[in-house]
Amino acid sequence: MIQMKDRKISLTERFTKAQQAFTFRDFILLPGLTEVDPSEVDISTRVTTDYTINVPFISSPMDTVTEDELAITLARLGGLGVIHRNCSIEEQVEMAKKVKRAESMVIKNVVTARSDQTVSEAVALMKKFNISGLPVVEGEKLAGILTARDVRFARQEELVGNVMTKKVITAEEDISIEKASQIMHEHRIEKLPLTGKSGELKGLITFKDISLRGKYPHASRDKTGKLLCAASVSPFDVERCKQLDKVVDVLVVDVAHFHNKKVMAATRRLTKDLSANLVIGNIGTHQAALDVVSSIEKVNALRVGIGSGSICITTEVTRAGAPTMFAVMQTSDALNELGADIPIWADGGITTPGDIALALAAGASAAMIGNLFARTRESPGSLVAIGGQYYKAYRGMGSPSAIAKRHAMDRYTSPSKSIAEGVEGYVPYKGDATTVVDELSEGLKVSMGYVGAKEIEEMWRSAKVASISQLGSIETRAHDVILPTRNPPY
Ligand code: XMP
Repeated sequence: MIQMKDRKISLTERFTKAQQAFTFRDFILLPGLTEVDPSEVDISTRVTTDYTINVPFISSPMDTVTEDELAITLARLGGLGVIHRNCSIEEQVEMAKKVKRAESMVIKNVVTARSDQTVSEAVALMKKFNISGLPVVEGEKLAGILTARDVRFARQEELVGNVMTKKVITAEEDISIEKASQIMHEHRIEKLPLTGKSGELKGLITFKDISLRGKYPHASRDKTGKLLCAASVSPFDVERCKQLDKVVDVLVVDVAHFHNKKVMAATRRLTKDLSANLVIGNIGTHQAALDVVSSIEKVNALRVGIGSGSICITTEVTRAGAPTMFAVMQTSDALNELGADIPIWADGGITTPGDIALALAAGASAAMIGNLFARTRESPGSLVAIGGQYYKAYRGMGSPSAIAKRHAMDRYTSPSKSIAEGVEGYVPYKGDATTVVDELSEGLKVSMGYVGAKEIEEMWRSAKVASISQLGSIETRAHDVILPTRNPPY
């Protein structure tokens, strides 16, 4: 027994009565009485306090996982990509802009005609830009719209102002795409000009662009119809935060151990001027969740789990960590106590749809995944052939080669912290990201079907779990058969 300041602590008790830091493979979901068919399961989720996405999968901000290509694909499939920060500010901003530009519902640089131009000049413009109608402006103000029908029987030298349609249906600049689509259907119009307070032309929505949207009906979008985009930042890199805040919808504070006074103070300073949603992490304990939520004003989601990632050696090296499943439970309970309705991202160690189902059962809203997305065509880097198989490189952001790129330094190193906390290796090539998303979605729906949960909130309320022994865990995998051709599915 040692005397510690004002209380006696038995070190034996401290260790023998320690909490269990469970991981995914310690649990199974108990099949419940169900009438839920997997095809009816809705896996859409609130990914931050302000945004909902259709599949609860988020790709990790790692330089072998998420650049613009994966972020675009994942957003189109209904998930969310977080662009890594192991590059210059300009490079990261450009990647984010590419995501935001990939699909644009509102045309900002509208081709217009003036009312004092002639019909022949306007027709020439239409031909040049291959468009069927032109908003007509006087100064900055919208004065009418010139359609193909208006010009069909007009004399070429006639002024646009005399033949244009003057009664124009317009909408406000920040109209949602759903509302715009409704107005266009109601009035049977193909173009909807958007105007500012004093009637100035601000943009244009066309029916053609809206119907293109049908191609990715489940995509994650902002309210103007552009793909949703997230990017990672360090709270100490104020300039990067400012630049990205102008472009992305979600900023992810990307710190290996967020429960740190300096990091929290820097984040508090940062939150004052941000307009994007802010996701904070990583945290792993009940106390961290209490401290973060009660001391930082803007927390739109929490990223939780320390040391479970497939390329992490933080816990191996330091024996410090909070396995993702444990971290989710701890955070859920803390949020519950605080009455805080903040989505939780389960980050690290996810290898199967069942892991995601377990994380949801513990209170998570979405899963952050590096390894499985690193395997896809859309992740950065080319294919590597090893022994007749294709692989892609995958490395931890605290691995020696990632650290060697200066920009990763503040996450996993500081002058007093000079060991690697990640490894670098290869993962088997999987093909298009859609394959991963489909497999995860289908598997998750089947899992939820076993539980009897039609939606994610029902998982929180009613999923029952049991802990499983190590032997049980071995028995519940394929065993006692030779599987010469089996590639592990995940
Ligand atoms: P998976 O299991 O999908 O996990 O590969 C991805 C998550 O791992 C974290 N990450 C790291 N953790 N050292 C660590 O301890 C690292 O070098 C490292 N790099 C990434 C991160 O949370 C990511 O989302």
